[in-house]
Amino acid sequence: MRLILFSALLLAILFTSCKKEEIPEPIDPTPQVETYSSVKTILESSCLGCHSPNQNAYIVDLTNYESIKNYLDGTNTMIDRLNSDDEFYRMPPSGNLSDADKQKLIDWINDGYLE
Ligand code: HEC
Repeated sequence: MRLILFSALLLAILFTSCKKEEIPEPIDPTPQVETYSSVKTILESSCLGCHSPNQNAYIVDLTNYESIKNYLDGTNTMIDRLNSDDEFYRMPPSGNLSDADKQKLIDWINDGYLE
């Protein structure tokens, strides 16, 4: 029994001494920045039903990053529409977008809509 304990201890010491020294990760004080991949699912579930090439709002194709970036690079009403209460102006028209998801989209746009 002692021998087992002793070998276990020895192994543990061996392992820890061989472990590469880890550089501690710096603590990031800034909140997480949204990227296209982190907002994509929101667009898919709330916007693509209309904003796809074969749908009625194909004028703004939100199915891919290039197309969205192209739209946002120009004069656009995206944030305005997300924030609007006017049912004829807001997006999505149903108003069926949670505040958290809306904020994510707005943050993403304000942070420069990174890919
Ligand atoms: C039920 C269909 C529908 C859904 C869902 C929808 N839209 Fe729209 N959207 C439209 C239509 C139709 C227009 C064009 C008419 C108008 O100007 O209101 C439009 C216009 C827009 C415009 C303005 C385009 C321009 O001419 O500058 C933006 C931006 C937009 N939508 C973003 C979104 C976003 C972002 C979502 C998801 C959060 C979304 N839409 C969801 C139907 C939809």
